[in-house]
Amino acid sequence: PKRQQTAKNIAARKGDTPIVCLTAYITPMAARLDQHCDLLLVGDSVGMVLYGLDSTLGVDLEMMIRHGRAVCRGAKQALVVIDMPFGSYEESKELAFRNAARVLSETGAGAVKLEGGVEMSETVRFLSRRGIPVLGHVGLMPQSVHAHGGYGARGRSVDEWGPIIEDAKAIAEAGAFAVVLEGVAEPLARKVTEEVSVPVIGIGASNACDGQILVTEDMLGLFAINPKFVKRFAEIGRDIEGAIAEYADEVRNRTFPGEEHTYKMRGANS
Ligand code: KIV
Ligand code: NA
Repeated sequence: PKRQQTAKNIAARKGDTPIVCLTAYITPMAARLDQHCDLLLVGDSVGMVLYGLDSTLGVDLEMMIRHGRAVCRGAKQALVVIDMPFGSYEESKELAFRNAARVLSETGAGAVKLEGGVEMSETVRFLSRRGIPVLGHVGLMPQSVHAHGGYGARGRSVDEWGPIIEDAKAIAEAGAFAVVLEGVAEPLARKVTEEVSVPVIGIGASNACDGQILVTEDMLGLFAINPKFVKRFAEIGRDIEGAIAEYADEVRNRTFPGEEHTYKMRGANS
């Protein structure tokens, strides 16, 4: 079996073989992903994917802790990282520490993730110097969708590059063990990966990064939205619909439950 992954050994893999990451929200999925992934992210995307919210802004600490505990029960080797939800860390570094400490102590996860660049670097430093490994998240930041005005890719013209490069560098210099880079054009992803000292984990950020992450439900074909950067490795949604239709037919024509699913009286033959 692979050894238990830590923020420290993920950090050491800059420029090494690609770091494999996926999201997880529940125990049975985490147990299956664990064999194959270096890092499992309990993303605040849980609010959209499992609860039908139309953005991540309505997710709270309780939801993250509940799913974080579920994922930690299933993960034996991969590093579990938990997203800090909107409103739980931006206000001050002290509030961020208090909430991140709760997340780690109540779940057993090994790190937290938070969105933000230069403006969050002081917080990243405060947490990482006090024993809380932090995964950064720059480029497209879904918690800032209202301020930015949408989910379109960033850095498709060169004049947008400067702030994104500065954000990634500031977070790395503040002590983040790695940085997620979301939704940016390939040449910018390449430049960020070259210039930042810690591993850059891409999502919609080309294959130039040090690792990749996707929302598991997206790549399994289980979640309705399908942005350009998602490759569907399965069509689980279609399989589920087929299975449900079959069940409904069998209930309606009484072929389910069959003999083999039916209890007999004790002592009766077979
Ligand atoms: O919430 C999430 O799932 C994420 C990843 C997609 C990076 O932040
Ligand atoms: Na997230």
